[in-house]
Amino acid sequence: MSPLSALWAALRVYAAGAAVILEQLLRRCRGGFPEPVFAPQPDRVAIVTGGTDGIGYSTAKHLARLGMHVIIAGNNNSKAEEAVRELKEETLNVKVEFLYCDLASMASIWQFVQKFKMKKIPLHVLVNNAGVMMVPQRKTRDGFEEHFGLNYLGHFLLTNLLLDTLRESGSPGHNARVVTVSSATHYVAELNMDDLQSSACYSPHGAYAQSKLALVLFTYHLQGLLAAAGSHVTANVVDPGVVHTDLYRHLFWGTRLVKKLLGWLLFKAQSSSTCLGGCLFLTPPESTGIHLNSTHQEREHLSSRCPGIR
Ligand SMILES: NC(=O)c1ccc[n+]([C@@H]2O[C@H](COP(=O)([O-])OP(=O)(O)OC[C@H]3O[C@@H](n4cnc5c(N)ncnc54)[C@H](OP(=O)(O)O)[C@@H]3O)[C@@H](O)[C@H]2O)c1
Repeated sequence: MSPLSALWAALRVYAAGAAVILEQLLRRCRGGFPEPVFAPQPDRVAIVTGGTDGIGYSTAKHLARLGMHVIIAGNNNSKAEEAVRELKEETLNVKVEFLYCDLASMASIWQFVQKFKMKKIPLHVLVNNAGVMMVPQRKTRDGFEEHFGLNYLGHFLLTNLLLDTLRESGSPGHNARVVTVSSATHYVAELNMDDLQSSACYSPHGAYAQSKLALVLFTYHLQGLLAAAGSHVTANVVDPGVVHTDLYRHLFWGTRLVKKLLGWLLFKAQSSSTCLGGCLFLTPPESTGIHLNSTHQEREHLSSRCPGIR
């Protein structure tokens, strides 16, 4: 990627963000987001990656409130202990626990799955939520560019290692679910097949958007395979919208200033039940391969889009 195309990638990402903010504001003016009401789900088990903070934490809380056994997969022991304590207190659900999983390390993902499988419990919902955004150029433990390695490859491996348990846990009318968190930036992303690691010219915007597009394509493909095999597992992808979280900490200072001053107005609250928590169950169990956008409209079906690959 040349410096000019890096600049172009940044402009496209900011334009996508601005479009989502506008959509959110319009939606608010028209009466806001519906508060979803869900039936209790006491016998179900969920894993939420990055459940220690932001949208993941909010999602874990929703699931715990429904009575689910929630396992938070994260890479910060002390933060996770605090999150688990708070979640138990706030939801009065004692079935909330933490298992260490560094999504930036393939070895750690394998160990996480091993520990999870030793519990001999089913898995009904896998929320691929953890992520980093627009970090300076750096690599995962395995040498991958961090956005691509953590956001995409980490979740790709995790999902594949857990698929057998998901398949065993789904049943007719009660599909197990893989819910993957994308971002509207994927609409303006390009997959640079000649340089997936962005090693020639690094653009944090381009790399983030590329990792999110890769997740969308992975979900579409996974859903195709699951449907072809007649399995009782669905794969869906959601955009949470523009949400007031710490994800923006690596952005240009001007953007952080705008967020600090106007975040309350322009961004969704991370505690909003209409972020991911809402999206999770708004799709009926038989929904497959759909892409929910930040205002919960079914944006497209998996077969309707073929994003450009460069
Ligand atoms: N906020 C938005 O406006 C927005 C918009 C579109 C999409 N999203 C997507 O939503 C998801 C959640 O983002 P957020 O806004 O909630 O951000 P956040 O508050 O920064 O939360 C990110 C979570 O991911 C975890 N994480 C980071 N690196 C990890 C690793 N190596 N292994 C395991 N966990 C790791 C973080 O744990 P630590 O805090 O311990 O690092 C944290 O729990 C991301 O995939 C993001 O791309 C967010």
